[in-house]
Amino acid sequence: MTNKQEFKINDVLHRSSKEEIVDEIFQGLSKKDKYISCKFFYDSLGSKLFEEITRLPEYYPSRTEKNILKKKSPEISKYIEHKTDIVELGSGDCSKISIILSAVDYSIRNSLRYIPVDISISAIRDSAAVLQERYKGIGVYGISADFTRDMGFIPSASKRLICFFGSTLGNLPAEEQTELLNGLKNIMKPGDNLLLGIDMVKDSEILESAYNDKSSVTAAFNKNILNVVNRLVNTDFDTAQFEHLAFYNNKESRIEMHLRALSEMEIYSLHFPEKIVVRKGETIHTENSRKFTYADISKFSLLTGLNVENVFMDPNKWFSLVQFIA
Ligand code: AVJ
Repeated sequence: MTNKQEFKINDVLHRSSKEEIVDEIFQGLSKKDKYISCKFFYDSLGSKLFEEITRLPEYYPSRTEKNILKKKSPEISKYIEHKTDIVELGSGDCSKISIILSAVDYSIRNSLRYIPVDISISAIRDSAAVLQERYKGIGVYGISADFTRDMGFIPSASKRLICFFGSTLGNLPAEEQTELLNGLKNIMKPGDNLLLGIDMVKDSEILESAYNDKSSVTAAFNKNILNVVNRLVNTDFDTAQFEHLAFYNNKESRIEMHLRALSEMEIYSLHFPEKIVVRKGETIHTENSRKFTYADISKFSLLTGLNVENVFMDPNKWFSLVQFIA
């Protein structure tokens, strides 16, 4: 392709060793309540399945967040000045950033720089390519990193709009949610903005159907974590021996995803110190997806010192885009 623009990717990712991964997975599977971290969902098939989830009629979060962005981008774009760096944590695809950029004046737009921060270099490359094709003048500086701990690598010379979309915050344990927001507050300077997308508490039927879609894409996404684990640590999980389970835990305000064993089985890996026994009916916890309230937004503000500048919501109040300033 001609006219292809150059962009730089700074790779600062600390990649876990095989031993660390084996240890983490074995520990989780040895617990009384078996557990596999949701970070293992996203191999290339997992990322494709998640993208498919975002297009499901039942999965309202992605669509709702984009609708808020479409409606509020004129207001949000007021905070984007000449030479602002637009940082996106966990960039995935660039469709959400594109909505904001479309509302920015052409003269300003060409001075901007897009900074996708993601573990996956190929995700950064893909979104950078699409974005530079769509908006010719924009610079791209990708950072391959774990944004929960590597935010110090985000350039600080220019004013920044930091975007953290998709309610991914809700997949972290509560302490890590505040830790992440604290980390962002610490690198933010006056004039910087944080745009945080969070899914809100709502009728449990709507929540549960979003994670139990009729076409079973979420079930396939959930089961695929076992294939990822098999590849990483040479186990022999048979996905056909598990069923997808997703329900709203009212007390914890979260959707929980589990895999329930349909039969008793023994799982072996030459890397494990011993076999793992899974009883019939036993579950493996694979994900928490926390749903938030307005009180949680105030609590985040109180705990981190970030100030709430705006809360943009859809008419149903199903999803929020919270604009924080330092
Ligand atoms: C990664 C937070 C966007 O928790 O809703 C979708 C992942 N899991 N369906 C979520 C997910 C099952 C998703 N996010």
